[in-house]
Amino acid sequence: MASISDAFAGHLRHPRGGWGRLVGQLMRVVNAEPNAQAIRALDVRTHHDVLELGFGPGEGVRGLARLASGGTVFGVDQSSAMLAQAEARNRAAIAAGRVRLSLGSFEATGLADRSVDRILAVNVAYFWSDPHAVLAELDRVLRPGGRISVYATDASAMARWGFIGAGHHRTFDAQGLAAALAAGPFPADAVRVSSVRLRGGVPGLVGVVEKAA
Ligand SMILES: C[S@@+](CC[C@H](N)C(=O)[O-])C[C@H]1O[C@@H](n2cnc3c(N)ncnc32)[C@H](O)[C@@H]1O
Repeated sequence: MASISDAFAGHLRHPRGGWGRLVGQLMRVVNAEPNAQAIRALDVRTHHDVLELGFGPGEGVRGLARLASGGTVFGVDQSSAMLAQAEARNRAAIAAGRVRLSLGSFEATGLADRSVDRILAVNVAYFWSDPHAVLAELDRVLRPGGRISVYATDASAMARWGFIGAGHHRTFDAQGLAAALAAGPFPADAVRVSSVRLRGGVPGLVGVVEKAA
């Protein structure tokens, strides 16, 4: 029988059913600060079209839609439970055609080539089983001169948390995240990783990838 921590880790990876909805509510609160840090590093302008990869409960999408008020915010996630939560949280912007959310995968977003200026990826890199394939997809949909911002909690903190179920999360230190982001089509000098501190002293990493113009 799966342990409780294993089941929780499974819902972070793919929220499903009632427990998945509960985990979504939790993510909305605890991921607010990581989202704010990564969105700050993204430098979103009013006219930008933006993709959020793995939008979860949709809080990041909401923040992005406020900033990119003249563009479109796309979101892709594999979880129908998260799609329902994120749709409920962004109803007005969806009705206005400013936010478009869909089911999809990290490696197949369903977006057109060169369709976005910015990509946000918060607390999702742990689940990239093939970083090369994910980054190739992000490169495909990102316009020249575009930017990607990735947040991951530092491996040193993740190692202390009991809910990180074996086999569910791949963890990173700064060097590991930089290497993962340079594993695909982006050269190492297009990637920079900064260490940040969240409330309570939790160490986090924000990785930024710049696509050549
Ligand atoms: C830990 S949650 C983070 C959600 C959100 N970014 C946040 O910061 O609150 C990870 C999300 O990634 C999604 N996800 C995991 N693996 C995926 C995959 N292969 N393709 C698409 N979405 C995936 C999950 O469904 C979940 O909503």
